[in-house]
Amino acid sequence: MEIEVDKIDALVDEYGGEHRALTTILQDIQDEHHYLPKEALQRVSERMGLPLIQVYQVAKFYKAFSLEPRGKHLITVCLGTACHVRGGVPIVEQLGRSLDIAPGETTKDRRFTLETVNCLGCCALGPVMVVDGEYHGKMAASRVDRVLKRCIEAKEATANG
Ligand code: FES
Repeated sequence: MEIEVDKIDALVDEYGGEHRALTTILQDIQDEHHYLPKEALQRVSERMGLPLIQVYQVAKFYKAFSLEPRGKHLITVCLGTACHVRGGVPIVEQLGRSLDIAPGETTKDRRFTLETVNCLGCCALGPVMVVDGEYHGKMAASRVDRVLKRCIEAKEATANG
């Protein structure tokens, strides 16, 4: 993975190299690359004067961060008890068929990553699917492809427009 050292340096400098800004800096890096490349963590550590182990500890602590390459679009399906009993599994199965990946995997073109979680804290809306941070409650396997297409089209139209 090629990282732009100048960009990382500028990002750290933007926050005045403040150690308390580490999480925000990592979030910005992840927003750009969809994960945290190890070269980027190394550079952040050097530029901020923080031990690399400390940077990794923060990167591993927050579930929102990924140390593995992820797709441009993150799809999360809740399989907590409430969502599970209301049909969470068929939603994951449908996504698996549509995208040809299993939970925890990323499509070969790096477009989609599929994840499952144990509760999103909105059980009354279950089953819940989240596409790039947008929550979709009362989901059904039969709606998966339509919702996915609409979300991706809307996001890509915004990005291009
Ligand atoms: S079990 Fe799915 S949101 Fe709580």
